[in-house]
Amino acid sequence: MKTIVITGASRGIGLTTTKKFLSEGWRVIGTYLNTPIPISHQNLSVIQFDQGNSASIAKTADSIKKTAPEIDAVVNCAGIILDVQDTEADIEKIRKTFEVDVLGIIDFTERLLPNLRKGSHIVNIDSLYGTFSFPIDDTSSTGYRIAKAGLNMYTRTLAFRLKDRGIIASSLDPGWVKTDMGNKGATETEKPDREPEEPAEDIYHLVTAVHESGYFWKLGKKREW
Ligand SMILES: NC(=O)c1ccc[n+]([C@@H]2O[C@H](COP(=O)([O-])OP(=O)(O)OC[C@H]3O[C@@H](n4cnc5c(N)ncnc54)[C@H](OP(=O)(O)O)[C@@H]3O)[C@@H](O)[C@H]2O)c1
Repeated sequence: MKTIVITGASRGIGLTTTKKFLSEGWRVIGTYLNTPIPISHQNLSVIQFDQGNSASIAKTADSIKKTAPEIDAVVNCAGIILDVQDTEADIEKIRKTFEVDVLGIIDFTERLLPNLRKGSHIVNIDSLYGTFSFPIDDTSSTGYRIAKAGLNMYTRTLAFRLKDRGIIASSLDPGWVKTDMGNKGATETEKPDREPEEPAEDIYHLVTAVHESGYFWKLGKKREW
């Protein structure tokens, strides 16, 4: 049985992705911060984990490595957006966003690397907001945008570093999704248009069928950074 680690498995895209991999016969190690994961399954292990806290990251990675010495995939889905309505750059929000959305993911992923099998896949859930190819069309989300751009560069450096080990690293843009985070950006006229089950399918396809490393994916296709 293949093993996948999915962070942020309690809600939104992480939860639907957890359900998808379980339904396909994978063993899932899912993490949450405050919301207990609302499903149980014989192949699901649950860990409380704070991606913004280095002691929690170290403890969680150690615990995963003990229970799953060989890992087939990691989906870094846990994330926050603190400045979605802000029109000014708020340094404390930017700092916190970086702790969780960039540094925490790097720390966690690096600790799991020794246990990743040849052919395994690391997926960093990124965003349109992390791209340079899309024009910035409003004043909001400075910290989130910079963090997601940084995460994309981590994907690229990982892909290069892990080439010789045959480990694939990808970024994935899930689109605008009807989750707690997605709904935060909604207005009267603009709303998320994707169900959380849809990016779960995209992530499953990426992990199981894509063997090219170092790209940014959306709806099963490469997209511009
Ligand atoms: N929704 C969208 O439209 C959209 C678009 C582009 C990219 N994304 C990205 O997709 C990913 C998932 O988003 P989502 O919409 O599913 O978000 P969500 O519904 O808000 O869920 C966020 C998840 O992250 C966990 N989390 C938050 N802070 C954490 C921390 N400090 N440590 C560990 N876990 C933490 C939450 O755990 P608790 O439930 O325990 O709090 C929850 O499981 C994020 O990386 C987001 O940036 C989303």
